[in-house]
Amino acid sequence: MATYKLLLLPGDGIGPEVAGGLQVVLDALKDTGLASFETETDLVGGCAIDAHGVPLADATLQRAKDADAILLGAVGGPKWAGVSYENRPEAGLLRLRKDLDLFANLRPAICYPALAEASALKRELVEGLDIMIVRELTGGVYFGEPKEITNLPDGSKRAVDTQVYTTGEIERIAHVAFDLAGKRSGRVASAEKHNVMKTGVLWKEVVTRVHSEHYANIELEHVLADNCAMQLVRRPKQFDVLVTDNLFGDVLSDIAAMLTGSLGMLPSASLGAVDEKGLRRALYEPVHGSAPDIAGQDRANPIAMIGSLAMCLRYSFGLGEAADALDGAITDALAGGARTADIAGEGTSAIGTKAMAETIANAL
Ligand code: NAI
Ligand code: MG
Repeated sequence: MATYKLLLLPGDGIGPEVAGGLQVVLDALKDTGLASFETETDLVGGCAIDAHGVPLADATLQRAKDADAILLGAVGGPKWAGVSYENRPEAGLLRLRKDLDLFANLRPAICYPALAEASALKRELVEGLDIMIVRELTGGVYFGEPKEITNLPDGSKRAVDTQVYTTGEIERIAHVAFDLAGKRSGRVASAEKHNVMKTGVLWKEVVTRVHSEHYANIELEHVLADNCAMQLVRRPKQFDVLVTDNLFGDVLSDIAAMLTGSLGMLPSASLGAVDEKGLRRALYEPVHGSAPDIAGQDRANPIAMIGSLAMCLRYSFGLGEAADALDGAITDALAGGARTADIAGEGTSAIGTKAMAETIANAL
């Protein structure tokens, strides 16, 4: 069995607690012989500012580049509210994403049968839901130039953001989406607004070409992003893989998140290009933040972090069997009634971070 090199960046707030839960599961994976890892731990975010004066030290970035995959907890918190914008805790995470060129953000929205009641929608609409949103993460309107606020002669102001996409940027995210669909239901929906945006016209054109040239076996549907938002709430199970740009992906993935219940349940992957060793640069992290309101109380739900490890097994190392086993262990723990406070519901007793991780490890 191959041994993979993981870099663990617990970060701030509940980050170290959910990373502790992750460690319990890593040990269990090793015991079962499903996968074996060498883990190194380092600082990112506020704790790195405290130690080094910067949210991501150069040595940590180098370690991230040398690792087979990175698992990150969360960064930030009120303690670092006074730090300069360039040096804030989140800048550490942004630098990691940028320097590793992690252009594809994968956010699954899965509704566990035991938690269908926690959804914002009716049980029959979400039961069995399993969507994968593929969001372009390093281009689009968040990064395009010009990006500025200027003063007008009449004393008012003018603000500009610019949406830019190139053929290459769209091609590579389209490949990620179609490849994923090939391992799932074989269906991709691509969301843009070609009716009002030039980037939408190019997006649709490139996705259509990549599809016809390489993925004849995959079913492709184009959907306007606003209609897509509506459909996600009206009939979410019609989607399997949903690929879209940075801005629409930000919004659509948050809508999808609320179909499934708590923030504490949602994993994510950010993937880059395939490197010399044939491995993809990749960072796996929960969608949630550092949750300062519950930090240090053993109350955080570790499932988003543990689910991120399952994604790592699947997408970085091709360990589908181990990933299925881990996803199955999460499903079993929930079906057995294990609940952290965020998913317990009224009148149900809750267990802590560590106990939830141990329940999952035992199920494994
Ligand atoms: P948050 O995600 O940290 O918390 C929002 C709410 O969800 C809180 O009530 C929290 O207790 C709850 N929650 C989050 N994760 C949970 C878990 N695993 N189990 C149970 N409950 C959970 O978002 P918020 O409060 O807006 O931000 C707090 C800090 O985290 C800020 O400094 C923010 O900048 C940072 N942040 C960091 C992110 C990252 O590292 N990727 C992402 C989002 C926010
Ligand atoms: Mg967002």
